Amino acid sequence: MDHFLYRNGVLHAEDVPIPDIASEVGTPFYVYSTATLTRHFKLFDEALAPLEHLVCYAMKANSNQAVLRLMASLGAGVDVVSGGEYRRAKAAGFPGERIVFSGIGKTAEEMELAIQSGIRQFNLESEPEMHLLNAVATRLGKHVPVTVRVNPDVDAKTHEKIATGKAENKFGIPISRAREVYAEIAGLPGLDAIGIDVHIGSQLTDLEPFEQAYLKVAELTHALRADGHDIRRLDLGGGLGIPYERSNVAPPLPTEYGDVVKRTVGDLGCEIEIEPGRLIAGNAGLLVSSVIYVKSGEDRKFLILDAAMNDLIRPAMYGAYHDIIPVIEPSAGGEQTPYDVVGPVCESGDTFTKGRDLPLLYADDMVAFRSAGAYGAVMSSEYNTRPLIPEVLVHEHQFAVIRRRPTFDEIINRDTIPEWLKG
Ligand code: LLP
Repeated sequence: MDHFLYRNGVLHAEDVPIPDIASEVGTPFYVYSTATLTRHFKLFDEALAPLEHLVCYAMKANSNQAVLRLMASLGAGVDVVSGGEYRRAKAAGFPGERIVFSGIGKTAEEMELAIQSGIRQFNLESEPEMHLLNAVATRLGKHVPVTVRVNPDVDAKTHEKIATGKAENKFGIPISRAREVYAEIAGLPGLDAIGIDVHIGSQLTDLEPFEQAYLKVAELTHALRADGHDIRRLDLGGGLGIPYERSNVAPPLPTEYGDVVKRTVGDLGCEIEIEPGRLIAGNAGLLVSSVIYVKSGEDRKFLILDAAMNDLIRPAMYGAYHDIIPVIEPSAGGEQTPYDVVGPVCESGDTFTKGRDLPLLYADDMVAFRSAGAYGAVMSSEYNTRPLIPEVLVHEHQFAVIRRRPTFDEIINRDTIPEWLKG
């Protein structure tokens, strides 16, 4: 459920008509709903409720400072994967003890930043990383909490580009080697192995791979405890999928996911962490765009929008489906026609969808891409010198620009011309 509904024939974000936002910021723009973000966080929080737990929002899905501030105010933790994300988390008000640092390529600078400014735990992904973190921690005279991200070799049954839990993927340490690695950590003065981490992929629409992975983690917990390690925290990653196509069967709910967690690892006495990103932010955001032209091709109609692949790359990159709905509600049973919906960028890959049946649309009509709150704005670029589009946050009847559109001068002046080319 989200908070983007038609009222009196006009699409609203909570109590704000989308055209009101468009007249203030211009299209294209992203708009997020506070009520939906809040609701999704609480669904996870409640699904794990009887267990000691922390929902660590995976900010890679949407790292706008306002979204982060909202999450921090709800009591969330946060999962970061770079020094930049760590800085964003701190700037938004997350205390160090609620920041988890994931990622396969952490540098010494990033480790030092997080150790000095506070960290809940590092999720280690390789032996070389383990040695570097130990060296950095020892130099700083610190003993830092770590988990080892294990690769359980489980098929997440999702798009190949976002599956992370198979042996062929670059993530984690093979679960078969985990006991050796924990034994080695026990001998390192800078590290304290407090738990286990696993994340098998994103946009999972089936609970079975989670179940398989978590059962392997439970088994490993017993084995490591028998080896003498004090395993007291399990980070179970993110990955629960969202309904992109409303006509399809909906993916499992957070409550059902919570049941899997309780069934597989609930009786181990461990504190549970999860790292959802997409389910919290995805359906809390729309990308709103205007039709520039309707162009007739040889055998099809192109709907040319002012949004493009640089603003929302998911369709071009993963062949992802996003619902597209007109901002002015079409009449029930009104005429529909198939469109190829495209952006102005100069490559054929800049196609959002082909042959999609939509109500008749004309120049200046506005449309909204649903489910665009996660992996939308964060993955955008300025390709074709198209400025990053504004982000807007709605709260009941109020809205605020939470990232403004840069000016062309700002974009152009980031480049510099070397002396030898001047004059
Ligand atoms: N934890 C780790 C270690 C991750 O790598 C990810 C996502 C998450 C948590 C959050 O997963 P979520 O709950 O959002 O599924 N750009 C792609 C998705 C990439 C996901 C990367 N890792 C897309 O647009 O579909």
